Amino acid sequence: MRRLLVIALLLLTVAPAQAAEPDRRAAALVARMTLDEKIQLVHGITLCFIPIGDFPGSERSLNGDGFVPGIPRLGIPDVNYVGAGAGVTNCGARENGRSTVLPSPLARGSSWSPELAYDAGALLGTEARTQGFTTLLGGVSDLIREPRWGRAFETPGEDPVLNGALVAAELRGVQSRKVVATIKHYALNNQETGRETHDVRVDERTLRELHLLPYELAVPASGVGNVMCAYNRVNGAYACENDTLLNRILKSELGFAGQVQSDWGATHSTVPAALAGLDEEEFTSEFFGDALKQAVLDGSVPEARLDDMVRRKLRGLIATGVLDDPPPAPGPVDAARDVPIAERLAEQTLVLLKNERDALPLSRSIRSIAVIGSHADVGVLSGGGSAQVSPVGGPAVPPDCDPETPGGGPCPVWVPSSPLQAIRAAAPRATVRYADGDDAPALAARSDVAIVFASEWRSEFEDRADLALPGGQEELIERVAAANPNTIVVLETGGPVTLPWAGRVRAVLEAWYPGSGGAEAIARTLFGDANPAGKLTVTFPARLQDIPTGPAPPSEAETIPYREGLLVGYRWYDAKGLDVVFPFGFGLSYTSFKYTGLKVTGNPRDGATATFTVKNAGKRAGADVAQVYVGFPAVAGEAKPLLGRADAMGQARALAALHASAESGEPVSVG
Ligand code: BGC
Repeated sequence: MRRLLVIALLLLTVAPAQAAEPDRRAAALVARMTLDEKIQLVHGITLCFIPIGDFPGSERSLNGDGFVPGIPRLGIPDVNYVGAGAGVTNCGARENGRSTVLPSPLARGSSWSPELAYDAGALLGTEARTQGFTTLLGGVSDLIREPRWGRAFETPGEDPVLNGALVAAELRGVQSRKVVATIKHYALNNQETGRETHDVRVDERTLRELHLLPYELAVPASGVGNVMCAYNRVNGAYACENDTLLNRILKSELGFAGQVQSDWGATHSTVPAALAGLDEEEFTSEFFGDALKQAVLDGSVPEARLDDMVRRKLRGLIATGVLDDPPPAPGPVDAARDVPIAERLAEQTLVLLKNERDALPLSRSIRSIAVIGSHADVGVLSGGGSAQVSPVGGPAVPPDCDPETPGGGPCPVWVPSSPLQAIRAAAPRATVRYADGDDAPALAARSDVAIVFASEWRSEFEDRADLALPGGQEELIERVAAANPNTIVVLETGGPVTLPWAGRVRAVLEAWYPGSGGAEAIARTLFGDANPAGKLTVTFPARLQDIPTGPAPPSEAETIPYREGLLVGYRWYDAKGLDVVFPFGFGLSYTSFKYTGLKVTGNPRDGATATFTVKNAGKRAGADVAQVYVGFPAVAGEAKPLLGRADAMGQARALAALHASAESGEPVSVG
């Protein structure tokens, strides 16, 4: 019997009565528009700071990722789009464009906490609105199918139920701040290599049970206003002109009432795309400008379809409150208020992977500490591409490129949050020194403890070739560990890495890209002021040869068959009997939890409820994530039947409850 993970979610559905009102108001506005006004609302006209084409109004763009001018005579505000996975981005070099950097979405995944996801979304929404934006382009839900994926840091993990639950909560958080949220990239944008041309071949069952499941869970549960379709093709048709994905599944089956927007440059036609369900072309007017007007005039696209596109955009603006209360004039974010929030979030995202002989937490009586590598004297790493944030305080290290540019950060940007200073503050009586490179082993040798910061940069546009720590860092760790057996490694990675050196160090703490409060969260965890409670949402394989997509670099082929089928992520390693270094769901704690009294009532047909008690049996305060795995009979072929999904959705409350009650020992019910 295989095990399938079922996790908890918090789901709220949009009440039909509430949903009808925005539709009605949107339809009334559309009825008052000219054809040209309708066309104006269904394509972009700027990219960051660059006007695309000669259109009136482009000077009003706020220099976010995209811009659609509003219609003042009808009270329709300008629509300004901005990216925001880890924070509000700044590809247009805006004056007030620096933002708080949150832990990356993959880091946030490790919390397994819908509340944390909601709080992160609310913070993103607040900072986007402060900067004048109506719509956020975060919400990556694609699974980590390819462990080397350049954008792995932008998504919660490799499990569809987890992704759906956390993204749903995040989107609700964004929209609670009067900002339209986005879920992307619909669908199967699982690698950067060849992403704009390749054709993913996937069977119906794998499509529905894995890759579309996050959307199936999050779209209705969040009331999200914007779905971004992906660059790639799916079973022959581009995702942005794919009738099955857009009309049939998203709009009809899932009841999505908002707009479908193409990824930037992912529109490939006028009539086929419009008829297949695409509602807005970004970032140009090549297909949905004059060409769409002509198609409406000659009847190849019915005007009713154009009306539908516009209505879908307006209903999102109305339902989130943007139309009635557009964002104020752009201003700077309140870093003094927001960075401490980011720090609190980061604390819940760290995953303790190894802790031999309780090397951690560190004692405050340590006399000397060596802090080594990865610019840990000044900053923590962030992820690149269109998710690159221009951090409040400015980059900690002068970047080798201009990160405030279309396409965002084509080189590593270090967020000004200094582990060295945070460790000094946490251990005021210790001598804490920093070294990089050749001096590091000598410094380690004369220190009580050596903390090596090791990092791995990932970015949109490029996949990693392998999973090794780059740039001689493996050797650095080995040399430091040889000089001082009391070596601790703090990882700042954008996905899983291989750790051939792990046996030589005492402790490993995965900090991901921890953001503006990252250093403080790391220091508090190293010294036991915070208990690490994060659990991996992506498998750390033993060897590159073992990964589900095979060791050859991500395929450039035009057609990519998803041969692994349902065996994405941990399902693969489980099915193939492969040992992994750190499995999905893994994470140590400074305390221990006792699980007792498991009772399962009900039956698989009608839904079962599992009840158990979790008690903190250790001496330190801490939270745990209860994980309930459901096995299916072999005959089920490891598929997740509809019933299983319903069960999974019902478990949300349990996870929420568990966070609250882990310390109190109250029984937790999962049903
Ligand atoms: C990315 C999207 C992003 C868009 C606008 C594209 O390259 O794939 O995720 O929202 O750029 O920045």
